[in-house]
Amino acid sequence: VDRENIRNFSIIAHIDHGKSTLADRLIEKTGMITQREMQDQVLDKMDLERERGITIKLKAVRLNYKANNGKDYVFNLIDTPGHVDFNYEVSRSLAACEGAILVVDATQGVEAQTLANVYLAIDQDLEIFPVINKVDLPSARPEEVAQEIEDIIGIDASYAPHISAKEGLNIDQVLEGIVERIPAPVGDENKPLKALIFDSYYDPYKGVTCYIRVFDGKIYPGMKIKLMSTGKEFEVTEVGISTSKQIPVDFLSAGEVGYVAASIKNVKEARVGDTITDAYNSTDKPFPGYKKVTSMVYCGIYPAEGEDFNSVRDALEKLQVNDASLVFEPETSQALGFGFRCGFLGLLHMEIIQERLEREFDLNIITTAPSVIYKVHKTDGEIIDIQNPSNLPKPSEIDYIEEPIVSASIMTPSEYVGAIMELCQNKRGTFLNMEYLDQKRVTLKYELPLNEVIYDFFDALKSKTRGYASFDYELKGYNRSELVKLDILINGELVDAFSMIVHEEKAYERGRIIAEKLVDVIPRHQFAIPIQAAIGSKIIARETIRALRKDVLAKCYGGDISRKKKLLEKQKEGKKRMRQIGSVEVPQEAFLSVLKYD
Ligand code: GTP
Repeated sequence: VDRENIRNFSIIAHIDHGKSTLADRLIEKTGMITQREMQDQVLDKMDLERERGITIKLKAVRLNYKANNGKDYVFNLIDTPGHVDFNYEVSRSLAACEGAILVVDATQGVEAQTLANVYLAIDQDLEIFPVINKVDLPSARPEEVAQEIEDIIGIDASYAPHISAKEGLNIDQVLEGIVERIPAPVGDENKPLKALIFDSYYDPYKGVTCYIRVFDGKIYPGMKIKLMSTGKEFEVTEVGISTSKQIPVDFLSAGEVGYVAASIKNVKEARVGDTITDAYNSTDKPFPGYKKVTSMVYCGIYPAEGEDFNSVRDALEKLQVNDASLVFEPETSQALGFGFRCGFLGLLHMEIIQERLEREFDLNIITTAPSVIYKVHKTDGEIIDIQNPSNLPKPSEIDYIEEPIVSASIMTPSEYVGAIMELCQNKRGTFLNMEYLDQKRVTLKYELPLNEVIYDFFDALKSKTRGYASFDYELKGYNRSELVKLDILINGELVDAFSMIVHEEKAYERGRIIAEKLVDVIPRHQFAIPIQAAIGSKIIARETIRALRKDVLAKCYGGDISRKKKLLEKQKEGKKRMRQIGSVEVPQEAFLSVLKYD
C-alpha cells in the first residue's frame, strides 16, 4: 500500500459513549467482516469483557475503504482499553496512530475520561476528530455537546458528524472524515527498522505475537530483530495483518500496522511500549516513553479451604502469560496458609483477575483486603516497600511512613459539588481547585491518598451523585502520613489476612465497622466469640457473637425428612466455603466484607 493512503487511528471515549458500537459499524460498513461473521462486538474478545462492557486487551484491525474521491484506503483501527488502570497501554496504542476519533455521547456530553483520553491523545500529537453519538435518543443535544467540545477541549467541533452508532446513521461521514481529517503516516522505508509494540499476547501455536506499528524500515520473516529495552534478539517467523482473522504477508513497511511472531516465549520479553529494530542495523533511538508497568494495588490470593495451592499457581501462571502487568509471588498467612501476594495496575485489574480465576479456572479463592505500596523509613535509615500489612516492622523500628497520593479530577453537575467535597474530605483529600466547565458542570481537583481510593471511593462517588459524576486519577507521588496497622482478632487470635494499614484518625472507625460486619457474617457457634480490633496491643473496638442456643435442625417442624436433608446439604455446601480460624469457622465472604466499609 501507498503510505499516502493509510490511516492509523484509535477511537477514544468516556466509558459507554459508544466506542465499541462505532467500531462495529466501521468494520461492518467497510465490509471487512460479513454481518454473520461478526459477533456483536468484535474488538472485545473475552466474554468477561463483554459482560462488563469494558475493553481490557487492545488489538488492531485492518479495514479497506473506497473513498468518495475514488481512491482505495487502508484503515488500521487500533483499539484502546477504556479504563484508567490501563492508561499506559492506551498511551502506547495512541502512539501507534496519527489520529483519534473522539466519540462523545450527545446526551451526556464531555466527561472525565473523555478529557483524560483527549489529553493522552494530545500528548501523542494526534489529530482529534470529534464525532457526536447517540443522536437517535430523544434527549440528545448534539449542538450543545458540540459547543461543549469546543469550549472545554478547545477543538473545532462544527464539522463533527452527528451519528447513531447503534442505528448506523451517518457512519459514511465518519469514514470520509477519517480520510480527510486524519493525516497519513510519515516514515522512511530505507531507514533501519523501527517498530513500536502496542500489544502482545501469547498464542499457543505461534508463541508471543506482538501488534506493532512500523515507523521506519521493513520487517519480514527470517529477519533477525532486536528488542531494544532488553537487547534480546529473535528471528521473525511470521508477519501479517489482522482482519477478521490473521493473514500472513511478505513484509510490513513504514506506516503499516500488523502483527509479528518471532518465537518469543514469554510476554514479559515483548512488552508493550518496547521498540523492535534490526539486530544488524539498529535504529539510533528507541521510542520514548517505554516504561515497565508498576503495580499500584496488591492483595493476597489464597486457595479457599479444599482448593489446591498448585492449581491456583497454575492458573496465575496461565493468566500471566497474557498479562505482563500481573505479578505474583508466594506468601504465607497464618490464617489462610499458603497463597500468593499479587500486584495489579489498579482495582479494576484486580477484580478482573479475581473473576477470571473463579470463572475460567473454576477456583474458589479468598482475597485479602487490597493494599498499596507504603514506603517505610526505618529508624536505622533503611527504606523498605511494604505491600503486605503483615510485614510492617514493629512500631519501635519505624521512623515514619509515606503513602502514595493520586491527583484526582472529578467532573460533576454542579449540584453535587457539596456532596463530593464532603466525600473527599472524609477520604483525607486535599482540595486543589474547582473549575466551572460551563454553567452546569464543574471539575474538582483533589489530591487523595490511594489507600482511600481503593476502598469504596468509586461506589461512594456514584451513590452520592446518582452516577452523574465521573472520576479519573493518576499517581502523583508519596506523602508522609500518620499510618498504623489495624489488626483484627477473632476469639483472641490475630487473623493476619484482615490486617490493614490505615490512617491513625480512621483506625477507630474502620476497626469498629469491620468488627460489626464480622459479627453479621460469621455464623453463631456453640460458644461466644469476641471480635476485636486492635492497634498493637491496644484494643480499639470489640463486638461479640453470641453463643448459639439451639441446633439449626430444631427449626424444622414435624420431622420433615426432605427438608431436613436440604438443610444439612446447605450447611455442607456452606462449610466448603468456610475457613477454620482457631476454633471458629469464618465464611469466605467475611474476607470480602472488610473490603467495603460503607
Ligand atoms: P466501553 O467498552 O465500556 O468503554 O463502552 P463503549 O464506549 O465501547 O460503549 P459501547 O459501544 O459498548 O456502548 C455503550 C452502550 O450505548 C451500549 O448499550 C450501546 O448499545 C449504546 N449505544 C452505542 N451507540 C449508541 C447510539 O448511537 N444510540 C443509542 N441509543 N445507544 C447507543
